[in-house]
Amino acid sequence: MVVHIVHGINLGQLGTRQPEVYGTLRLEDQLPVLQSWLDAHFGGTELRSFQSDDEGALCAYLAAHNGSDHAFVINPGAFTHTSVALRDAVAGLSSPVIEVHLSHTYARESFRRASLLAPHTRGTVSGLGWLGYRLAIEGLLAG
Ligand code: DQA
Repeated sequence: MVVHIVHGINLGQLGTRQPEVYGTLRLEDQLPVLQSWLDAHFGGTELRSFQSDDEGALCAYLAAHNGSDHAFVINPGAFTHTSVALRDAVAGLSSPVIEVHLSHTYARESFRRASLLAPHTRGTVSGLGWLGYRLAIEGLLAG
């Protein structure tokens, strides 16, 4: 099984971007931490990561890796609330998808409460920071 950790717009700036909201941990530092945790608990599962600010590149990445041995954890950033294209890309996948948000999107501005992707995902984890990614991976691997 390959689990893809997919990040959308502005999430390459984690660590310095609004640290009071998103914390001070950088994406590139957290991925090896997630990989070590995965190796310890789910040996044999490969982690791959992709981040882009480009909606089309995100859609293409999802389509290129769709398949029975693949699963996706996706934090689309602001595309969550705006991108019909990303929603359509997720809807077209046969692989399972779980949406993650570092911040508690339901407790912030009202526009963040709506996710265009959510109806096409297995579930959403919101507001638990980086722990949310572990929970999402467990959810995907639980079948
Ligand atoms: C986010 C929440 C989104 O509303 C926001 O646009 C982001 C980050 C999160 O991880 O909390 O860029 O997806």
